Amino acid sequence: MNLVGRDFLKLLDFSGEEMEYLLDLAADLKERKKKGIATRWHEGKNVALIFEKTSTRTRCSFEVAAHDLGMGTTYLDPTSSQIGKKESIADTARVLAGMFEGIEYRGFGQDIVEELAKYAKVPVWNGLTNEFHPTQMLADLLTIREHFGYLKDIRFTYMGDARYNMGNSLMVACAKMGMHFTACTAGKYFPDRELVEECKKIAAGTGATITLTEDVETGVKGADVIYTDVWVSMGEPDEVWEERIKDLMPYQVNGKVMGLAGEKAVFMHCLPAFHDLNTKIGKEIKGKFGIAEMEVTDEVFESEASIVFEEAENRMHTIKAVMAATLGVPENKG
Ligand code: CP
Ligand code: NVA
Repeated sequence: MNLVGRDFLKLLDFSGEEMEYLLDLAADLKERKKKGIATRWHEGKNVALIFEKTSTRTRCSFEVAAHDLGMGTTYLDPTSSQIGKKESIADTARVLAGMFEGIEYRGFGQDIVEELAKYAKVPVWNGLTNEFHPTQMLADLLTIREHFGYLKDIRFTYMGDARYNMGNSLMVACAKMGMHFTACTAGKYFPDRELVEECKKIAAGTGATITLTEDVETGVKGADVIYTDVWVSMGEPDEVWEERIKDLMPYQVNGKVMGLAGEKAVFMHCLPAFHDLNTKIGKEIKGKFGIAEMEVTDEVFESEASIVFEEAENRMHTIKAVMAATLGVPENKG
């Protein structure tokens, strides 16, 4: 398997075998880290981390992973670079490719990260766009594989806003890995229709299935994994909160949902999550709409079934695998 020089923009660009390879590499890197074995395979290299939206996990993962691989990092925050305001993406790509061995980009349209990759001669890694969040997918798959021991035939249910980056990406990930994906939400929040068709075609070759349902009982019964995400994503206007709460409250992940799923089901969330009032936005929403929990109840979030913090840690190991694979894994890893 050789992924050297490849961009990591969306899972649609990768085969199931390539994804398995990245997961195996991430598991190996995780084990090495736990044992204190150094993996400074890219000493002297540097990567640029462009964030046009805020981040905790993705930024920290790229920074820690890059440092563990022996690389330096430069963080460009949402306000202090010229990108998109005074300088085009094409020009930025060519400037950064002259100084860095790889570029991470988090921002708005998928077309922007695709354009960046087109003009940059070095690997470009998508750290989240409106449409896709591919590095999150590897962390989620690794976490599921660690928990259940396998991926194929896992029954995976996504609840809430399935028409954005997380719903889209999880549907693709499940299709590629032969898993059974269900989007359980109100019809207007189903993933993009064209993407559903594309995933159904992929599923036909992997044994996966794609189901869209508005009925909670049908959607969650017997599921191995119940997954949700925030109801309003970064970059969306505050005005949509009222409608989202009204539309998506029936799809909140709560004790009843987990009970329907069954005893062995786990709860996952890419985070950050609104499960209590310990956030500024959580308090504002409580003041405006009177609710203390949104996409997931605190009870579920804090329960034994919740594997969200293992999932968050795996962001770092899987992002390290993506950088290592696309920059080159030494033949003799030591
Ligand atoms: N899950 C995730 O991407 O988190 P951040 O927004 O904190 O990077
Ligand atoms: N859908 C969320 C994911 C955050 C990791 C967002 O785009 O804000």
